[in-house]
Amino acid sequence: MRLYCAFTLCTSVLGVFGQARAEPANRNATQALLDNGVASSIISSLTEQLNKKSPSTCSVACNTLKAVFGSDDVLLQDEAQYKYLSSAYWSQQQALVTPICIFTPSKAIDVSTLVLISQLSQCPFAVKSGGHAAFSGASNIEDGITVVLEKMKNIELSKDKKTAAIGPGNIWYDVYTTLESHNLAVIGGRVAAIGVGGLTLGGGISFFSNIHGWACDSVVSFEVVTASGVVLDVSAAKHSDLFWALRGGGNNFGIVTKFTLKTFPQGQMWGGGKQILEPGFPAVIKAFYNLGMNAASDPNAGQILSFAYVQNTRIASADLQYANPIANAAILAEYMAIPSIGDTTKVRSLADLTVQFNSSNPSGLRETYWAATFKLDEDMTTFIKDIFFEEISLIADASALIPAATLQVITTPQLENMERNGGNALGLSAKSGPFILLNLNNMWAEAGDDARVLKANANIIQRTVAEAKRRNLHHEYIYMNYASQFQAVIPSYGAENQRKLKAIARKYDPTEVFQRWQPGYFKLDGSPSILS
Ligand SMILES: Cc1cc2nc3c(=O)[nH]c(=O)nc-3n(C[C@H](O)[C@H](O)[C@H](O)COP(=O)(O)OP(=O)(O)OC[C@H]3O[C@@H](n4cnc5c(N)ncnc54)[C@H](O)[C@@H]3O)c2cc1C
Ligand SMILES: *[C@@H]1O[C@H](CO)[C@@H](O)[C@H](O)[C@H]1NC(C)=O
Ligand SMILES: *[C@@H]1O[C@H](CO)[C@@H](O)[C@H](O)[C@H]1NC(C)=O
Repeated sequence: MRLYCAFTLCTSVLGVFGQARAEPANRNATQALLDNGVASSIISSLTEQLNKKSPSTCSVACNTLKAVFGSDDVLLQDEAQYKYLSSAYWSQQQALVTPICIFTPSKAIDVSTLVLISQLSQCPFAVKSGGHAAFSGASNIEDGITVVLEKMKNIELSKDKKTAAIGPGNIWYDVYTTLESHNLAVIGGRVAAIGVGGLTLGGGISFFSNIHGWACDSVVSFEVVTASGVVLDVSAAKHSDLFWALRGGGNNFGIVTKFTLKTFPQGQMWGGGKQILEPGFPAVIKAFYNLGMNAASDPNAGQILSFAYVQNTRIASADLQYANPIANAAILAEYMAIPSIGDTTKVRSLADLTVQFNSSNPSGLRETYWAATFKLDEDMTTFIKDIFFEEISLIADASALIPAATLQVITTPQLENMERNGGNALGLSAKSGPFILLNLNNMWAEAGDDARVLKANANIIQRTVAEAKRRNLHHEYIYMNYASQFQAVIPSYGAENQRKLKAIARKYDPTEVFQRWQPGYFKLDGSPSILS
């Protein structure tokens, strides 16, 4: 049967229908589970066990999940696959966390059932996409349910190939290699093993962001499981408030079960890293500043500049990219003229470049990431570099420490792209940029060194922010994907955006499921932890 109707009538009917299903503030979770196809006997057994107070609520929740989904999808602590999955995180801090069980859903309705069972049993959960958030509890949860999205790995091109629908269990390497055969790409991560989920919901900077913007601004639609277990299709046209909130709002609004991203034509490109010693630092900082200021004149070029302390040597690593397979782009000439001790730049595929950058980010070590934002300024860049080396020299004997201060530019073209499709939640605007985005990142081996490593990083942030304020170069924005657990990300989007995000959360999550029952990572108020 075919439905004949005027376009506007159809869309308004669908719109109303979507709205009506979207906000049942007090949807009955028991009924919702029945609607998802969960047997009533399983639900009564859940309620019965919860009334008994023993075993723990999370054991009850995990047993219930096991009854609904079976052994392949729900892993308990004594199972071999549990041991593998619970340690499959980038940082050691996250790999050491031990949930009561791990749930591996295959589709949106499974995720819905998890959200409902968590609420009924009052057992907290965490969600893992690529597992690259550094601090403990970000995507793994002690004594709760960890939801590992690895079975949701669909990658599907639309008929016209203009969009790709991507499951949240994908890492960018798999996305890029799949799209490569069509000579297409999407905006995503620059390191192979990063997950689609965390990167996109926090912002997402790509090699091609000067051309196409950040990942969150390339999303055409999100499929989201909300607090009441409803599966919503969210876009600029449908639930536009939630669409705005998900562009930078992280895990506060629902579990995204599908990201539909805009594709663009992309073949071979050029890129790699150049290592430069201390005499070249002034030239490298000048090149960084000039490329940042001139981004609009050739947006094919990209840069990531790291200062690091490796084997008692101060080193700069300039990771450079060009979107076309051209080795001598004029805009990169200033960088290329600086004498280097190592150079891996060459013409290669996007996937290949992400593998190259993956190799310098091994997993299994202790890790910390920190972020700050400043107005792009050459002297400020030098100041950041100097403070970094000064503070790091005090902890240089920490075991296997590799500390770096990684600098990028949030360019004017990137900021302009943020205004597309109703804008995002980050609170940045083109008229106040371009910005230096500082990412402090350290890897080390021993937990005994945690306190002083964290303190050194906190000091660098505190001192550079204080100096930037003095020079009128500070911006309060803290990039979620690079922030430490001691930084207040959502408040940094500005008071007005934080208020809006909270209002949208009240609408789609009136009982604060994603604040209370998914406690990890950056919540709507404050920072996850306080540095003692
Ligand atoms: C080596 C390395 C390279 C990096 N390169 C880049 C880069 O090029 N560009 C850039 O912008 N950032 C980069 N980052 C930062 C990166 O974006 C963040 O670490 C991000 O959190 C990683 O996403 P993930 O899915 O791997 O992490 P996860 O730890 O799996 O997730 C992070 C958070 O997002 C939530 N989340 C994940 N998926 C979903 C979902 N589907 N629905 C709801 N919530 C979800 C999780 O619950 C968790 O709280 C890099 C980080 C590392 C360690
Ligand atoms: C919720 O739904 C179940 C199943 O339909 C029903 O038995 C129960 O009474 C409902 N609870 C409330 C509070 O309405
Ligand atoms: C990325 O690096 C990790 C850790 O070294 C490694 O286990 C993984 O296989 C790499 N992934 C890709 C896609 O290259």
